Amino acid sequence: MHILTTGGAGFIGSHTCVALLEAGHSVTVVDNFVNSQKEAVRRVEELTGKSIKLYEADCCDRDAMEKIFDENHFDAVIHFAGLKAVGESVQQPLRYYRNNIDSALTVCEVMGRHGCKRIVFSSSATVYGVPDEVPLREDMFCKGCTNPYGWTKYMIEKILMGLCDSDPEWSVVLLRYFNPIGAHESGRIGENPNGIPNNLMPFITKVAVGQLDHLNVFGNDYDTPDGTGVRDYIHVVDLARGHVHACDYAMTRTGCDIINLGTGVGYSVLDIVNTFEKVNGIKVPYVIGPRRAGDVAACYADPKKAAEVLHWKAEKSLEDMCRDSWRWQKNNPNGYSA
Ligand code: UD1
Repeated sequence: MHILTTGGAGFIGSHTCVALLEAGHSVTVVDNFVNSQKEAVRRVEELTGKSIKLYEADCCDRDAMEKIFDENHFDAVIHFAGLKAVGESVQQPLRYYRNNIDSALTVCEVMGRHGCKRIVFSSSATVYGVPDEVPLREDMFCKGCTNPYGWTKYMIEKILMGLCDSDPEWSVVLLRYFNPIGAHESGRIGENPNGIPNNLMPFITKVAVGQLDHLNVFGNDYDTPDGTGVRDYIHVVDLARGHVHACDYAMTRTGCDIINLGTGVGYSVLDIVNTFEKVNGIKVPYVIGPRRAGDVAACYADPKKAAEVLHWKAEKSLEDMCRDSWRWQKNNPNGYSA
């Protein structure tokens, strides 16, 4: 298959490009590099020994997207491109709504015009909002998101569902990611956030490499075994493999499915810190602080549907995630910059 990955230079996108190429598919990337680097694509080529056709363009740019589709035949699109910082989305809601929704609409319109009607979309467990119960199942009612970033994911899900209802030729897979961490085991590609990280694992690796002083643990008074927040951390290489299965599935049927990509196991903030310290032999100083607004006590997936429908399940352990996150950070203390 020939797959177009929008945002293919990003953290999840770059790992998915490796998995697609290793599975024998051809890959084209379109990325505007607003939050990613060309070097990531170069390293994917180096890791796989295969080449990637790369377009530098914004998915909201209709003319640029038309040109890409005029020049290629794609069997399916994986739409990763989007702004993804929760806090920033609260500060700049219009930018988030404009960018994420406009790019999804443009990608779908251009796809439809070119007769390419299979799309896998990067959604997020954030659409579940504040859950009444865990584990989270895809058929649970989403009561509402806690920030504009989450709403963009929710709205794009609805747009793609409506598209399937309107045209029976579309094949849509909405993947709800839990908390992707880890990196390719080569240590050559990984997560490269701009500035001070918001998410737990990149923050821990920045503390471990000495660029930040200590981790602030956001609350230890939750109703969880050790009082700190519980999440479903999933190795990005497992997640990437899930996309290859989703593309295969999108080829076999039409319609729309929502599918969780998680492990089904929840770990607390202190589980992550302790495992990171143990497997890497390095201390991560931390201070217990107040809760972060918008955080929930526990969030983890029911991963059954992914196993049944995609024939996929996560295989890597928390130890693997901690080891691989650290290898990437240690080998690339400044990310993709020299
Ligand atoms: C967050 C987003 C979610 C997004 C996901 C992407 C919110 C409310 N949710 O999920 O929409 O899809 O990132 O990966 O922001 N923690 C600390 N100290 C830190 C950072 C985090 O204690 O410096 C704790 C948090 O309180 C939480 C856990 O670590 O319990 C995980 O946090 P994080 O990595 O930010 O992910 P989520 O909040 O689950």
